[in-house]
Amino acid sequence: MRVITLAGSPRFPSRSTALLALSQQRLESRGVEVIPWNIQNFVPEDLINARFDAPALLAFKEDLASADGLIVATPVYKASFTGALKTLLDLLPERALEHAVVLPLATGGTVAHLLAVDYALKPVLNALKAQEILHGVFADDTQITHYDRQPELVPQLTLRLDEALETFWQALARRHLPYALAV
Ligand SMILES: Cc1cc2nc3c(=O)[nH]c(=O)nc-3n(C[C@H](O)[C@H](O)[C@H](O)COP(=O)(O)O)c2cc1C
Repeated sequence: MRVITLAGSPRFPSRSTALLALSQQRLESRGVEVIPWNIQNFVPEDLINARFDAPALLAFKEDLASADGLIVATPVYKASFTGALKTLLDLLPERALEHAVVLPLATGGTVAHLLAVDYALKPVLNALKAQEILHGVFADDTQITHYDRQPELVPQLTLRLDEALETFWQALARRHLPYALAV
């Protein structure tokens, strides 16, 4: 099984990226191959100028095409996901996620924007024809500490992330079952 993680925060280190790093550790301990990507891997001018032939974009699309799953993480910016992430998603082909199970993660300063993933990010993932989009995990800033060194999550968030990763892993595993067993 191969999974891409995509960090959509313009900042590094970052809370939402820390959630991806922890997810990567958990999945790798189950034998999943994880390929980490983040928005800093792309040249900003390529994204702003919609350069569809940018080398990093071509490499990312290739990785995506061979992946069974995607975990995408974003901070909430102005009640939505980041503009930087949108500039990348805009450059993907229409069916870029048609073979992928997607788990969205988000962090925000206030729980008032808890639903940003549902009303902002999920429609874009749908537009990319994601095969299955799982319930996301939202964390507020108080729930993640030391994200610049060794990130620590409050127990309630650890539980929610572990549950989400279990569901993600099961969805990936189902895709590897012979058809007769999967239905
Ligand atoms: C430009 C900007 C806009 C933000 N807008 C919101 C917002 O609308 N709602 C919210 O809950 N948090 C907002 N925040 C707070 C971030 O979402 C929050 O601190 C997040 O955890 C940062 O994630 P990161 O460390 O991965 O970048 C904003 C932060 C910045 C820098």
